[in-house]
Amino acid sequence: MVEISTSILSINKEESIKKFYDLEVAHTDYFHIDVMDGKFVQNNTSSIMQEYTNIIKQITNTPLDVHLMVEDVKKYVDEYLVFNPNRITFHYEALKNKEDIYKIIEYIKNSNVKVGLAINPITNVENIYEFLPYIHMILVMSVVPGKGGQKLIPETLDKVRKIKKYILENEIDMDIEIDGGVKLDNIDEVKNVGVDIAVVGSGIVSATNYVETMKKFKK
Ligand code: DX5
Ligand code: ZN
Repeated sequence: MVEISTSILSINKEESIKKFYDLEVAHTDYFHIDVMDGKFVQNNTSSIMQEYTNIIKQITNTPLDVHLMVEDVKKYVDEYLVFNPNRITFHYEALKNKEDIYKIIEYIKNSNVKVGLAINPITNVENIYEFLPYIHMILVMSVVPGKGGQKLIPETLDKVRKIKKYILENEIDMDIEIDGGVKLDNIDEVKNVGVDIAVVGSGIVSATNYVETMKKFKK
């Protein structure tokens, strides 16, 4: 069964509290927090995501799935560790060398938080194979990071297949998450390639009935 991590990126401030409650009632498995710094990607969501995370922590125990699309990874890891998230994911492309990647992996793990490593659509999966035994999750971006409401790039599903095969062959126990453009009309395909956690933003947030929509995504 696939788990659903709801991206709150496209939720307006005015309706945010109600929507967070509704998502909780609909049993989202995680709240997916998209932190953008205006450097790694053009948009800057750092203050609104801080605000939203504070609200979510006050109203629910549903785990947080933090996705950092930032250049200064350490700074934002520190900012989100205080929320005791289930996991923090940072981008392979954000750091200049392997040593820095290993340092951040250790740093997050030492804080008893799971570690995810994200790769952009143009990044080859082979680049991150060496890190897989040390992390808990790989996040395959199925759109170019930076904004919600984009179309899933079909080739990224081949990357998921490839990673799935690799981790099975090498007996690595980890989750695969996909992020971007997941909708009811492609969720079956997403499940079939071996995704464990699907991030869904506009596909849920713009729906009229969260309970029904969530059920359909999970079924
Ligand atoms: C893109 C973000 C995603 C995305 C999800 O940079 O990481 O989490 O906005 O939203 P939808 O499902 O609308 O693509
Ligand atoms: Zn995301």
